[in-house]
Amino acid sequence: MRTRFLVSTSLVALGLLAFACSSKPRPPKEPTVTETVSDAGEGDADAEPPPPKSLFERLGGKEALAKVVDAFTKNMLGNDLTKKRFAKIPKDRIEAMNKKIVDQLCKETGGDCEYTGKSMKDAHKGMKITEAEWNAMVKAMKAALEEAGVAEMEESDVIALLAPMREDIVEQKTPAKK
Ligand code: HEM
Repeated sequence: MRTRFLVSTSLVALGLLAFACSSKPRPPKEPTVTETVSDAGEGDADAEPPPPKSLFERLGGKEALAKVVDAFTKNMLGNDLTKKRFAKIPKDRIEAMNKKIVDQLCKETGGDCEYTGKSMKDAHKGMKITEAEWNAMVKAMKAALEEAGVAEMEESDVIALLAPMREDIVEQKTPAKK
């Protein structure tokens, strides 16, 4: 009888203990950390990457272009093959041409400029510009870009941009006879 009383008392005590444990409020669940080191911190992880820079920006803008064009014309005036083309042109007209070339290159490279000059065909019509003069022009432009510290990548981008103008500028495929 005494043993039965002890057993049943123990069972009641165990039951009460189990109830007390299960009814105890749980601590709030910690939020799961899903951020990685790369997307943590400032900024919005969903933000668009910045647009690639235009060739105009990579060249350093209009001021940098003006320096390149200035050096380019000087190189053309200093080259035996091309200097005769500009020999009789007054200084202010050379300056006006330079400004037009700057605007043209600015526009073509993605800058916010207007080119108001003639088309390449009309500007060079009847000049009988030769293939050799074209090649001298490419050399003059490359040297001007190098002088201005323009990187190789941008240098080839500028030359590639001029290349399609060749068919409108070169009228004489073989060097002119003397
Ligand atoms: C891609 C190469 C070239 C470009 C971008 C270029 C651009 C220009 C531009 C913008 C003008 C002014 C047009 C206007 O007045 O409305 C011009 C004029 C002229 N260009 Fe070119 N040119 C190129 C190649 C050449 C070459 C190879 C020569 C000769 C070697 C040359 C000789 C001249 C001459 C003589 C003028 C006329 C200047 C004047 O009478 O006022 N150009 N060029």
